[in-house]
Amino acid sequence: MKIVITGGGGFLGNQLARQLIKRGELTSTTGQVEKIDQILLFDTHHSNASKIGLEEQPLIRWVTGDISDRKQVFSLIDRDDISVFHLASMVSGECEEHFDDALSINLDGQRHLLEACRARTTTPRIVFTSSIAAFGGDSMPDRVTDDTKRTPLTTYGMTKVFGELLINDYSRKGYIDGRTARLPTIIIRPGKPNTAASSFASGVFREPLAGQTCELPVDRSQLMPVLGYRDVIDSFIALHEAKTDLLGDDRAYGLPSIQHSVAEMIENLEEAAASRNITLGSIVDTPDATIRAIVATWPTATDGSRALKIGVPHPSTLVQIIDTYIDDFM
Ligand SMILES: NC(=O)c1ccc[n+]([C@@H]2O[C@H](COP(=O)([O-])OP(=O)(O)OC[C@H]3O[C@@H](n4cnc5c(N)ncnc54)[C@H](O)[C@@H]3O)[C@@H](O)[C@H]2O)c1
Repeated sequence: MKIVITGGGGFLGNQLARQLIKRGELTSTTGQVEKIDQILLFDTHHSNASKIGLEEQPLIRWVTGDISDRKQVFSLIDRDDISVFHLASMVSGECEEHFDDALSINLDGQRHLLEACRARTTTPRIVFTSSIAAFGGDSMPDRVTDDTKRTPLTTYGMTKVFGELLINDYSRKGYIDGRTARLPTIIIRPGKPNTAASSFASGVFREPLAGQTCELPVDRSQLMPVLGYRDVIDSFIALHEAKTDLLGDDRAYGLPSIQHSVAEMIENLEEAAASRNITLGSIVDTPDATIRAIVATWPTATDGSRALKIGVPHPSTLVQIIDTYIDDFM
């Protein structure tokens, strides 16, 4: 079977490809577990760093393009035995600045993909990545569940809510077999900071561990629901593999997370660094009103119990996440 990962040049798409190579098989459109014979990574760009260790992998194919190009998207979905992990997205900070692009990439791009899958003779499984930015507003509780009303206060969040609803409706119609993972903030992203408003939640670990200064845009008392990158990849695969008849009519599953304040993240980091004799760079409080305003619209905890029931794994602890990052990337 063929796997398409949109946004395959990004952080999670890259990690997912590596995990799928190790796994070697997934449930195909026949309902049977089949060997993966191609993993196509689609993105606007593929950095050399993202290719390290994948160059010699016969399963991997890199395709460069734009998800808002309907013709190109149809050319990716060229087999009936296919599954899609749809990760391509403009992220939160960018969507606020570029409204029209956010609509054409996050909304039109997803529609092209769904239509391309609908045009096959089978009903491909699609895993879509939503975000807790789907929530927001005055009535939002601190801890959100899958029953919490989605009233996003960012353009990014709005596009994710539409994405969740499209996945539900295309699945209800029998055009696809969709599943949405609604992600909390994923840590610890390696490499350079990105333009997501939550970028600091990785930077607060990554920069000091690299001996660099981290400029912290939010208050240290800010609470965040976070999840480790290995857990989120395992969750994508668990959602893909979940039996269709276990899924309800709402195919959007909020992933479980752990809740920590930024101060607790820093404490855990200092302990991990001390135990490994790592000298940390400093963390400088540098308030940023724009980032604070966006982050203030997000929930501070998530209830992933519905996802846990269909086989999504329990989250790792903060100590485990920091240790894994040090082992994997340093
Ligand atoms: N990492 C997180 O904390 C987090 C939290 C919530 C939701 N998500 C969602 O998970 C998914 C993956 O996140 P990530 O952290 O890997 O982000 P990322 O920015 O590293 O990856 C997204 C990829 O999408 C690509 N992309 C953007 N526009 C495109 C276009 N027009 N055509 C094709 N590709 C395009 C980007 O180039 C990028 O490589 C995204 O949908 C994101 O919204 C991530």
